[in-house]
Amino acid sequence: MKIRNLLWSVVLLAGVSCSSGDTLRESAEGHFLMGVAVNTRQAEHPESTDSRAITRQFDCVVAENCMKMEVVHPAEGVFCFEDGDRLADFARDNHQKLIGHCLMWHSQAAEWFTKDDQGNDVTPEVLKQRMRTYITTVVGHFKGRVWGWDVVNEALEDDGSFRESDYYRILGEDFIQLAFQYAHEADPDAELYYNDYSMALPAKCDAAVRLVEQLKKEGCRIDAVGFQGHMTMDFPSVEMMERSIEKVSAAGVKVNITEWDLSILPNPFNHSGADVASNFSYKKEDDPYRGGVPAEVQRQWDERVMEMFDLFLKHRDSIDRLTFWGLSDSDSWRNDFPMKGRRDYALFFDRDCTSKSVVSEMMKRMRAIK
Ligand code: XIL
Repeated sequence: MKIRNLLWSVVLLAGVSCSSGDTLRESAEGHFLMGVAVNTRQAEHPESTDSRAITRQFDCVVAENCMKMEVVHPAEGVFCFEDGDRLADFARDNHQKLIGHCLMWHSQAAEWFTKDDQGNDVTPEVLKQRMRTYITTVVGHFKGRVWGWDVVNEALEDDGSFRESDYYRILGEDFIQLAFQYAHEADPDAELYYNDYSMALPAKCDAAVRLVEQLKKEGCRIDAVGFQGHMTMDFPSVEMMERSIEKVSAAGVKVNITEWDLSILPNPFNHSGADVASNFSYKKEDDPYRGGVPAEVQRQWDERVMEMFDLFLKHRDSIDRLTFWGLSDSDSWRNDFPMKGRRDYALFFDRDCTSKSVVSEMMKRMRAIK
């Protein structure tokens, strides 16, 4: 493991020395990896403005969609790696670590995976076999190119109970352990993560900690818990977030902030939420900044971003990676989630791919503690 890290550092340093001036990746060195979710177009057009910013600013990339089950394993016996391979080439060419996202998730899954010819649930044995084939093939395909995998995504509800996904209904919580086991067998060097949203909620975080403990007890590899970090102006509080970081760290695994964005728009949920199935119908009053963000609202957003960032930096010994869920506001999923067609400003680069003032502030604070 140590040698692998050393080799990667040499590769990454070679990349960093090619870039000039102040960048997130340089400023974050020694603190945490700086990651960004990359879409298919960006991987396909490395010379585009946003792809060049991705190359320059980040030392880690995550597949926003192209490694999800519906893309890579759409039918029995069929595997599609074209987009994933392109992203792997992009990462290699730019000296970036690549994170695989994600193996077992109830959303953007392939419909056939849990059903028989009649559309009924398959038996536990059949599902196990399909999971083994799928995970072994996908993780095996990217072996040596993917640094770490989100093995299971969103298996927990906000109250800490297990989500009633098809996987859970058929196999119970064993599906989680099996996924970790198959992934580890397919690439023993890859880091393995459990990933979820609203991790600041105490009941959900406690359940994730129990999951980590259980996996460890069963002898499974688990390196980190991913906190997605899809935030709003009123959720979560810095204090809740801090408690959760501490709890996960005390369980003996790292924290990754895996999908950070901070919506500036009114929050239609009563607290949090990033359940992709949520869908509120469009209301004009919930989309107030079509013509731009008023200075005072922008100031509040900047302040909240920096409060969170300071928290991440304070806990840098527990946090391995900070990933933005996309580069610029124009590509952010928050424009359509949880309400379609709004104009959000949730990311850290403008619609024209210029970094917002919070980015230089982040760099300043990271450099100040070197
Ligand atoms: C989102 C993508 O950003 C969108 O492009 C896609 O339409 C839906 O999924 N949690 C996750 C991510 O783990 O994979 C989701 O990404 C956002 C919520």
